[in-house]
Amino acid sequence: MAERSEGDKPDVQSVLAQMTIEEKASLCTGASAWRTAPIDRLKVPSMTVADGPHGVRRCTDLDSLVCPSFQATCFPTASCLAASWDRDLLYALGQAMADEAIAQQVDVLLGPGVNMKRSPLGGRNFEYFSEDPYLAGEMAIALINGIQSKGVGTSLKHFAANNQEFKRFTTSAEIDERTLREIYLPAFEMAVKKAKPWTVMCAYNRLNGIDCVEHRELLTDILRYEWGFDGPIISDWGAVQSRVKALQAGLDLEMPGPRPGHAHAVADAVRTGALDAAVLDQSAARILSTISKAAGTPKGGEFDVDGHHALAGRIAGEGMVLLKNDGILPLRDPGQVAVIGLSAREPYFQGGGASHINPTQVSIPLDELKQGMPRTTFTYAEGYSYDIAFQQTLIDEAVEKAIAADVVILFIALPPFEESEGYDRRDMDLSLQQVTLIKSVSVAQPNTVVVLNNGAPVAVDEWVRDVPAVLEAWMMGQAGGKAIADVLAGRVNPSGKLAETFPVKLSDTPAYLNWPGENNVVRYGEGMFIGYRYYDAKAVPVSFPFGHGLSYTTFSYGNPQTTATRFKDTDGVTVSVDVTNSGEVAGKEIVQVYVHDKKSALVRPFKELKGFAKVDLRPGETKVVSVSLDFRAFAYYHPAHKRWITEDGDFDILIGASSEDIRYRIAVNLQSSLHLHKILDHNSTLREWLADSRGKVVIEPVFKIVTEQLS
Ligand code: GLC
Repeated sequence: MAERSEGDKPDVQSVLAQMTIEEKASLCTGASAWRTAPIDRLKVPSMTVADGPHGVRRCTDLDSLVCPSFQATCFPTASCLAASWDRDLLYALGQAMADEAIAQQVDVLLGPGVNMKRSPLGGRNFEYFSEDPYLAGEMAIALINGIQSKGVGTSLKHFAANNQEFKRFTTSAEIDERTLREIYLPAFEMAVKKAKPWTVMCAYNRLNGIDCVEHRELLTDILRYEWGFDGPIISDWGAVQSRVKALQAGLDLEMPGPRPGHAHAVADAVRTGALDAAVLDQSAARILSTISKAAGTPKGGEFDVDGHHALAGRIAGEGMVLLKNDGILPLRDPGQVAVIGLSAREPYFQGGGASHINPTQVSIPLDELKQGMPRTTFTYAEGYSYDIAFQQTLIDEAVEKAIAADVVILFIALPPFEESEGYDRRDMDLSLQQVTLIKSVSVAQPNTVVVLNNGAPVAVDEWVRDVPAVLEAWMMGQAGGKAIADVLAGRVNPSGKLAETFPVKLSDTPAYLNWPGENNVVRYGEGMFIGYRYYDAKAVPVSFPFGHGLSYTTFSYGNPQTTATRFKDTDGVTVSVDVTNSGEVAGKEIVQVYVHDKKSALVRPFKELKGFAKVDLRPGETKVVSVSLDFRAFAYYHPAHKRWITEDGDFDILIGASSEDIRYRIAVNLQSSLHLHKILDHNSTLREWLADSRGKVVIEPVFKIVTEQLS
């Protein structure tokens, strides 16, 4: 592809000063589906954007919304990435994606997505990281830093509360302030503050009745004034209704274009005074700054196709989660192996919608198994099809192969496009055919290993006790087939841990009663209690908990320490623990640190993830794992004070191998640096007024007058 020279780099202020109102207005609306408007007169180049979060979907025609895309590496999707809990790995992924963006002349990649997984039914959950804001934020920071380290921009999305696909253009997410601040915003906040994404993409939906694209408090007060974001805010594609209102709220770039009517409306509004010229200038300046940054990175060339395919396989192997293993894995000289399941031949490795990549190649699990075990005899049975609801013959054929084999590897995947942008799943269920297949095969052959391919949790409770091993392989990307073969054969020791809970059944899930809403309103009635926060609070048993994942080795924890047991919130504390590989093979362990507030003025989840580290250990090796906890690790958002606060008091720091496998609990005492006055108002009781030093000064004279008058 033609290289673009660095000479295009515009000087923002001098260009802005020369621009007409029409030119500024046209810059604030895309020139086409994937490009910003060039200003040839002033040598301002167009900037090219492309999806997506786990690969470059660069349309062959930049002016066409729906078009084929060039081949690129389809990496594992976000739910697999997050299950790696590996910041360095995501940074490396970001660099590889940036190389591909540069080769394809893409200036800004439209991702990552950090919306919380409020329900397992969310159609785009495969594109998002976690049910926990801290883990999602940490993954986003690593990925953004990786991509931007190479001079390619990102677009942190979808800001905010885009947690379902059902009526996503019109639904209003009704969220109380505390839940918004503590659950749905922190991943965005962390990424904006620590990775400085070039752009943020505004969501389609409404938040508490206001279109996000016109939500000034969200886009300007919070994102800019509180968090310090200084890049352009881009609309999701087609989200803008009134261009002037959106500009006034802080929405800088409307995509896609062209929308000449909107540009005229903006220019007219400036001329009539309905829109402050400074607002338009600010937006144009932000867009010009980003174009300038993009122009600083020469584009074109090639990327390492095979090297990126291998990286995609490595990442997939790091994100796969060994949910259950009674010892059958890893397979050692398994004799005859029956491979059952359509997805062994037709891998299910990505979802539908804007993130869908045209892969450079696809690794087929069945072929990779044969390749990796040349001395093993393999048979195959389809087991299920996606187009016929139930076929007993397919089950019978599978059972026959299972009986004749020594081991069965049973590939179970959701149907293609079951998980996609634009619609949510109806349930968490596998098909009747698949459940019947698993139960029938596992009776015929007790040595049955189930390999799952899905972007979000599926119900496993009906059969999980019938099989000795389950490997969650997620939407594993184009190289996932080899990664599965490597994990099953023990060439890769699985180290992934769940970034989202596997509930037993849908009616156990936090959002169940309020999903997906009606009359264009969805109430987040569960409040802060999503994911493990909910299952903890309600003591609801789950199939597999947040943070769970097995290894082919074992790890022991010892010598838990904190740098202090009594400390100020502004000093924070560092937690450390010795982790030993007590098994026979090298492996990686993810140590999780949760914080439990023993007493708080407002309700809090029992525990919340506030730190983690992944450590690589040889057999017998011990390393000290340290995690630092800062002010925010102990704070919560107080809606009356309208800020994050800490309170004096006792906390437990929990060190765990999962959210349920807590190895140590360290009692500490926090001293708050805040001197917050009690919020006293007409709702406060007399006792509360008198109990507060300031309140007492105010209320006692009044009290005195009243009692005198009454006597
Ligand atoms: C889509 C998606 C968004 C994507 C954009 C461009 O509707 O919501 O994630 O980046 O439009 O394809």
